[in-house]
Amino acid sequence: MFLDINYFRTLESTNDTAAQMAKEGAPEGSVVVAEEQTAGRGRFNRAWLSGKGKGLWFSIILRPKVEAQRLSQLTIVMAVAIGETLEELYGIKPGIKWPNDLLLGGKKLSGILSEGLLEQGEIAHAIIGIGINIEPPVDIDNPVLKGVEPAYLEMATDGKVDKDELLKELLKRIKKWYQIWHKDGFDQIRTRWMENSVTIGNQVEVSNFKEVFAGKAVDIGEDGALVVEGADGQLRSFNSGEVTIKKD
Ligand code: BTN
Repeated sequence: MFLDINYFRTLESTNDTAAQMAKEGAPEGSVVVAEEQTAGRGRFNRAWLSGKGKGLWFSIILRPKVEAQRLSQLTIVMAVAIGETLEELYGIKPGIKWPNDLLLGGKKLSGILSEGLLEQGEIAHAIIGIGINIEPPVDIDNPVLKGVEPAYLEMATDGKVDKDELLKELLKRIKKWYQIWHKDGFDQIRTRWMENSVTIGNQVEVSNFKEVFAGKAVDIGEDGALVVEGADGQLRSFNSGEVTIKKD
């Protein structure tokens, strides 16, 4: 797994190139890495700034052959693997904000964009896109960054980040956690995720396309959904949405 690593200088989005390759039959574990993305994407179709050499931008193709509902668990598997890698390589412990953000000092260091092709209720293939900010962009005033506070790995590592080593170590741990998930299910991953979560136990607002729901984040469910307890004690599960952690 992860033996087929395809490097590109410039792509629009590694997720798009990986999706194209998956449609053409690329095997599980194929990796697409770009020095620069000209149309990097985040969740909810937001732009993801991916300047040349300013971070690690890559996507992997997975073919787990499990029910479609488990796609959102995969994002959580990745968050756990990225967190473990950053801790082991650089001694930092990023907080995980449900479902896909890794935060350093409350600022966003890394994001995950999981996209899948579903066929007959199963995941035919999943494209997992991972972005890790290493250095600030040249145009720090870029409007894309308005409202987001990014963190950069070099802030925590005295500027010493070897991208090849980082990718190699990430792929090693992604493989490990992916295999645990595939073989033993979601339990261990859920426990690990909860340990590093900055979401659980806090007052949050979850917004999706339909509503904004306020309450206390209490759990993540078997399916990777965030469970929020409303003021009246009512429990609601969210499979997707944007979480704002409320500071008191
Ligand atoms: C998010 O936080 O909303 C997800 C950001 C994901 C960014 C990565 S960079 C590599 C891959 N290619 C993309 O276009 N997006 C993901």
